[in-house]
Parts: sequence; C-alpha cells; structure tokens
Amino acid sequence: VTSRTIRWGILGTGRAAHDFARGLRFVPGAEAVAVASRSHERAEAFARRLRIPRAYPCYEDLIADGDVEVVYIATPPHRHMQDSLSCLEAGLAILCEKPFAINAAEAREIVLVAQKARVFCMEAMWMRFMPLIRRAREVARTGQIGDVRLISADFGMATPFDASGRLYSRELGGGALLERGVYGVSLAQWLLGKPEKIWAQARIGSTAVDEQSTAILSYRSGAQAIVTASLRERSSNEALIVGTRGRVRIHEFFFRPERLTVDVFADSPEPVPYDDKSLRGRAITALKENRVLRGARLRAALLVPGLSAVKSQEIIEPISGNGYNYEADEVARCLRADLLESPDMPWAETIAVLETMDAIRAQYAVHYPADVTT
Ligand SMILES: NC(=O)c1ccc[n+]([C@@H]2O[C@H](COP(=O)([O-])OP(=O)(O)OC[C@H]3O[C@@H](n4cnc5c(N)ncnc54)[C@H](OP(=O)(O)O)[C@@H]3O)[C@@H](O)[C@H]2O)c1
Repeated sequence: VTSRTIRWGILGTGRAAHDFARGLRFVPGAEAVAVASRSHERAEAFARRLRIPRAYPCYEDLIADGDVEVVYIATPPHRHMQDSLSCLEAGLAILCEKPFAINAAEAREIVLVAQKARVFCMEAMWMRFMPLIRRAREVARTGQIGDVRLISADFGMATPFDASGRLYSRELGGGALLERGVYGVSLAQWLLGKPEKIWAQARIGSTAVDEQSTAILSYRSGAQAIVTASLRERSSNEALIVGTRGRVRIHEFFFRPERLTVDVFADSPEPVPYDDKSLRGRAITALKENRVLRGARLRAALLVPGLSAVKSQEIIEPISGNGYNYEADEVARCLRADLLESPDMPWAETIAVLETMDAIRAQYAVHYPADVTT
C-alpha cells in the first residue's frame, strides 16, 4: 500500500501545467492520468504531447473521472479558490499553484473545506522542496551564520506588456507581488515567521496592478526582510540571508537554485561599537585601522588559505528532473502516509504568507475583485 501509484489529474493546459506534467515523469510511482481544459482541442493536444491517457473538455469532467486521486491546479490565481473547492468537495486531494489564493480569506476557506472533507491540500510552493533551498535553510537554522538578521529576496523578469495577459490582469490575479514576490514572502516566512510591521511601495501600471513592488518586513526579533518583485525588469533574482557571523547567497534563480555561496566570518570577534572608548575598544580600533597590519593580514590570507577572515564555500547541486518533481514527491509521500497537510508547507504558513501579501498590497492600494466578495 505504501508504494501505491499516485494518479494525478491536471487542471489547465498552460506553462505550469506543461512543466509539471513533464516533472511527473521523474517521480517514481506517479502518473498523470487525465488533463482538463476549457477547450476540447487544447485538452487533446496537451494529452497527446505529454502522453496522458484521458483528456476532458471541461474541468468538471476531470473531477468526475473516478480514477484521479490528486489534482494539480494550474489555472490563473483568480480561480484557484473555485477550482480547489470543486476538487476538495468531490473528495480529491489538491496541489494548488502559487499564489494559493488571491487573499488570506480565500485561503482560509479552502483550508476549512479540506479540513472538513479530510482531504489532502497543499500550496504548490515548489521552492520549499528544492534541495539547495533546504540546504540554505539548514545553514541558517543551525546557527552557522549566527542569528539571522536580514533576508533579501528579489525576483524580476521583463515580461512584455499585455493588458489582458495573466500577469498584468487584475481580473486574473496578476501583479508582481502575487506572481513573483510570493517567493520572497514565503522564504522570509519560512525563516523568520510572521512579520510584526510592514512597509511597502509599488509602481502601479495602467491595468491597476503592481508592476514593481518593494516591501520591508520587520520582526519582533529585530530582523528585517526586503522583498522586491518586478514584471518589467530582469533583476538579480537572488536571495541573501545575512546572519551575525556570516551570510548565505542563493544565486539566480533563488527559488530554484543550483548554487549557494556560504561565507562565515571566522574571526569575527564581538563587534566593537564605534564609540567604545575603553582601552580595549580603542586598541582594537587602532589595530583594525592600521594600514600596515591590514595589508600584512590580507597578504597572509592570500598565501595561507586557512588564515582568511572569511571561510567561503560554494555549493553547487544541479536540480534533478525539472524541479517540479520535488513537490510532487512530497505530495506522494504525504498521501501515502495519510497526511492532510505537508509538514514543510503547512496550511498555517500558506495563510500567513497571504496575510502578509494582503497587508503589503493594502499599503499601495492594489485590490482584486475577490477582495470585495471575501
Ligand atoms: N511554479 C512555477 O514555477 C510556476 C510557473 C508558472 C506559473 N505558475 C503558477 O501557475 C498558475 C498558472 O500559470 P501559467 O503560467 O501556467 O499560466 P498560463 O500559461 O496562462 O495557463 C493558465 C491556464 O489556466 C487555464 N485557464 C482557466 N481559466 C482561465 C482564464 N480565465 N484565463 C486564462 N487561462 C485560464 C487555461 O487552460 P485551458 O484554457 O486549457 O483551460 C490556461 O492555459 C499561476 O498561478 C502561476 O503563478 C507557477
């Protein structure tokens, strides 16, 4: 029973649906058995291209298939709640794309229905299951870089403007924060928890969604996070976790990384405040500022690697499969263990991420139709 094949259905035939279906090929004991589209032709073409046995011309037909155990919801965000509820109410488990819903109220409703129906439900936040993201988190959580004080996460791509396209459309749940910033908010939530205060600004475009969003989150611990997202420009696409003794750089693209740089400042002593007028403080400052000593130390560090003030480690690990396989593996693991939620992407965290995003966009007044009805 524990190794039974997990039979997947897929709602939607866009980019994510396509990539996920390909990713399933790398998951042992998983099979895509059905796909549904709003159009008969698109369903057929998708099924043919990805060798999926059954193609349905409407979503309801897939939900009534009878042989599907879990549905991957790859529709635009404005219909995530509606599609999730249809599946859950029919007893089908779901893996729903990010953003899990338009706002926290919708997310709470989905979770409530999953709880009532006792059906598995998870946000498809694939980032959390990437091996190097997990490694970065491990480094941060085990204190190797000291206490985490700052996280910055930046995701921006130059997406050609299309007023009715998914990314720029308010009706479909577009916007930089919901589409891209969600990764940074989720990373910060994972490492630092719920922020205490939020400050945000955005550049709003002609379709009334945020085309560039910047949010500063601050935490009771004194830590801060900066989350930036853009629909118009390709930015660094990196994340940085800064601790009191070191830092982890998660290279582009930080939500599906294949390279990390971990710097630990091996000799970082207790920091001496600038205004430390004690004998010790003045002595340390004088030594640090002495050009001859500094030069000698730098030369020595170059010649004798162990003497370097920074212990730097580059970690490279290519993604296996296409990256979607990791979250699908997690769903299979949870379903086989009869879990209703994943311990790594629990419901409370999905809701907390949406609460933070609600608060961010409230500050720059981006609203979606669903905000009125929920
Ligand atoms: N994890 C990731 O890396 C990743 C990557 C991309 C996207 N995503 C997420 O996945 C979701 C889908 O993104 P995508 O890039 O795959 O979008 P997409 O290419 O536009 O595909 C969305 C699909 O949803 C279906 N759909 C249903 N109602 C629709 C409507 N009113 N307007 C447009 N399409 C509608 C369409 O399929 P039919 O016409 O066949 O029904 C369409 O092909 C989003 O939430 C996005 O944020 C995640």
